[in-house]
Amino acid sequence: MSENTGTLQLPFAAPREEPAGRVVVSDAFELLRSLAPESIDLAVTDPPYESLQIHRARGTTTRLTTNWFVTVPNERLPELFREIYRVLRPDRHFYLFADEVTADVIKQQQGIASARLPNGARKCSSGFTYWKEIVWAKTTLDGTRIRGGTGYHFRAACERILFFEKGKRTLNDLGVPDVLMAPRPGVPGPAVKPGAVVRTLILMSSAPGELVIDPFAGSGVVGVEARAEGRRFLLGDIDLAYLDPSLADLAPAGVVVARAGTPDAEPREPPELDELAEGRASEEELDAARALGWLQPVTSLREGPLEKLLELRPKEREAAVRRALRSGGAAGEPEMLRAWRAWALSGRRK
Ligand SMILES: C[S@@+](CC[C@H](N)C(=O)[O-])C[C@H]1O[C@@H](n2cnc3c(N)ncnc32)[C@H](O)[C@@H]1O
Repeated sequence: MSENTGTLQLPFAAPREEPAGRVVVSDAFELLRSLAPESIDLAVTDPPYESLQIHRARGTTTRLTTNWFVTVPNERLPELFREIYRVLRPDRHFYLFADEVTADVIKQQQGIASARLPNGARKCSSGFTYWKEIVWAKTTLDGTRIRGGTGYHFRAACERILFFEKGKRTLNDLGVPDVLMAPRPGVPGPAVKPGAVVRTLILMSSAPGELVIDPFAGSGVVGVEARAEGRRFLLGDIDLAYLDPSLADLAPAGVVVARAGTPDAEPREPPELDELAEGRASEEELDAARALGWLQPVTSLREGPLEKLLELRPKEREAAVRRALRSGGAAGEPEMLRAWRAWALSGRRK
């Protein structure tokens, strides 16, 4: 009899199938650090840039004044590039959505200057080759016209997608123009990108079965389109509230995918937090805050969630309040609390 039974391989065991898609709740930097080098085939991502704070401060539109999420400081972007370069296999592409302000910052950080390689591309300090900006031109819903956006020095009607390459990979279709036209997606969520644009990037730079990553996934449009085109995907975000309902089954157990449920109340913005803390809010609002556990008994020595929120800088507070409200919900809650939760999901302001 063989002594080596511990390593016995059953010839009839079914091969283990890798899941086609994964969705995790994670800080993007931690997620990337946890991945093996050269394990990913394509990165398409859209971080929450510091420049959003400029748009919010100007308060040009409701969409931009709404504080959906916390931002990643510009000084951390080189780390993002280093990590994405590390996890990509050789001869792969990386697409980064960016506004004009952030595109400038990234080019400076990456040392992308006027000197060009003989093929017209430029080298980055992270090791990538930078090819060019692709433009998402925002159209009307029927796609026939460019839709004017914000600003007073020509309306901003486009977003940039910076196109990087590790090694050398030929695009799958050499006839696609660098202006991609699509209307803004009409779904709630933080700066959701259109499926048609994301699909084009995936089709251009990956093959069926390859693994696509988006560590700042938001609605998960990269996963939706990767799956539709037979690619595998890995999505991460610190907040899955706006994940596309078709991906909700992939979210870890117990995580709230608010978009998968229908809010049953008219959205209402909560009052200023110090009004709650000092008991100056209405009785209905105080009830809602109690149901949330925000108003601790006076005898409690531990700092409660409301105090923690109050310690945040005002510009970070709204995003934190929205996240706190989105990550919960139980039957029989006060109507006011359901209205606050609906507000947190809708992104509306007063
Ligand atoms: C601009 S949105 C991405 C939108 C996405 N491209 C889409 O089309 O739906 C940025 C996302 O980054 C998430 N986020 C913010 N800080 C993060 C971090 N440190 N790690 C991972 N995700 C983060 C936010 O929750 C938000 O969903």
